[in-house]
Amino acid sequence: MTKNNKYKKDFPIFAKRGSKKPFVYLDSAAMAHSPRGVIDAVAEHLQNFRSNVHRGVYALSEEATEAYENAREIVRKFLNARSAQEIIFTRNTTEAINLIASSFGRNFLREGDRILVSRAEHHSNFLPWTMLRNEKGILLDIIDVDENGELQISSIERAITPRTKLAAFSCVSNVLGAINPVKELGKLFREHGIIFVVDAAQAAPHVPIDVQEIGCDFLAFSGYKIGAPTGIGVLFGRAELLEKMPPVLRGGAMIREVTVEKAEWNDLPWKFEAGTPNIEGAVGLGAAVKYIEGIGFETIRNSEEILLKKTLAVLEDINGIKIFGPKIISHRAGVVSFMIDGIHPHDLASILDQDGVCIRVGHHCAMPLHQWLGVPATCRASFWIYNESEDVDRLARGIEKAMHILRISTNVRRISANHE
Ligand SMILES: Cc1ncc(COP(=O)(O)O)c(C=O)c1O
Repeated sequence: MTKNNKYKKDFPIFAKRGSKKPFVYLDSAAMAHSPRGVIDAVAEHLQNFRSNVHRGVYALSEEATEAYENAREIVRKFLNARSAQEIIFTRNTTEAINLIASSFGRNFLREGDRILVSRAEHHSNFLPWTMLRNEKGILLDIIDVDENGELQISSIERAITPRTKLAAFSCVSNVLGAINPVKELGKLFREHGIIFVVDAAQAAPHVPIDVQEIGCDFLAFSGYKIGAPTGIGVLFGRAELLEKMPPVLRGGAMIREVTVEKAEWNDLPWKFEAGTPNIEGAVGLGAAVKYIEGIGFETIRNSEEILLKKTLAVLEDINGIKIFGPKIISHRAGVVSFMIDGIHPHDLASILDQDGVCIRVGHHCAMPLHQWLGVPATCRASFWIYNESEDVDRLARGIEKAMHILRISTNVRRISANHE
């Protein structure tokens, strides 16, 4: 799959952009491209089924509702949730985690309760918890990762106190690429009666997710990271908890009855879906899940491991490079962050861009982690289904060129000779 990748042709953007200028896309952790099936499903919906949902009594509206609810069922199966009531469509992971903090956190956590998070979290899984600290006097216990960027269960175990009420961890780190042991964490938190929130934004494209197996209470991911349109995300929540949580947004669609004096909320999941939702986004998300399932996570993972091995081998040959994250390939998803002495990440990204190589540089919305690493920014190359071996060669050649331009001595060997 990595050489002459057979899935690449499913993604129209490569044919289009690649025809004008070489195009090597190594930023899927920020945004995955959409396969033709997703683009077609959204276009077909807009052309043939566009109508508001849950409202009309005419056939077109019923068909739109069916398409929207069918997407929810596809997501339910994808996450192996018990019921579609537990699948709430949000805009993205950020909105989903904010919903948990605003509804569950504000109503069921008390002053002096403690929340566990790791230092490696994306701001989306950090700031909603600092909000509770600032508003309610809840305490945050920050868990450090080890020197390989991995979470150690023993450090988490040590941090648990009788007042620890909630733990929020990513399944895959967007900077370190580390695949965190969420099943083990789920078991640990269940034993202590701690609510477990999983940020699966970077996991959804790379590893199978089974909310029952993890035993988490909440889990969130964003559609665009698995090839769906932007503006559609998912919050899984255990029905028992969602039932007792108040809605965050109030308005249309989320009510059963409204009088001037009071309102009664709709059933799950619509209680949390106020206003007209992103209907075509949900349809696109359903198509994206189907596309991934058609390929299978085993295939995705095998290809990623080959790319990861080659990328790490190539990068390790560069003088003055520091690569962040796990050294063991099976502990890492398709994300590699690095720094090269004397080269500012933004300079490197600009030079790579001249040759059509797209990488992400910056703090990747994980400033507490970068402060701890002692660097203001890192360079990040990330892969998905459409990447191939040649992309790694092009990255290496681009880095070589950047080092030459910036007059940094290099001993990057010709990768074609060493790593094919
Ligand atoms: C690990 C992780 N969590 C949360 C987010 C936030 O996702 P979104 O911007 O879609 O809300 C991201 C985005 O990159 C992420 O990588």
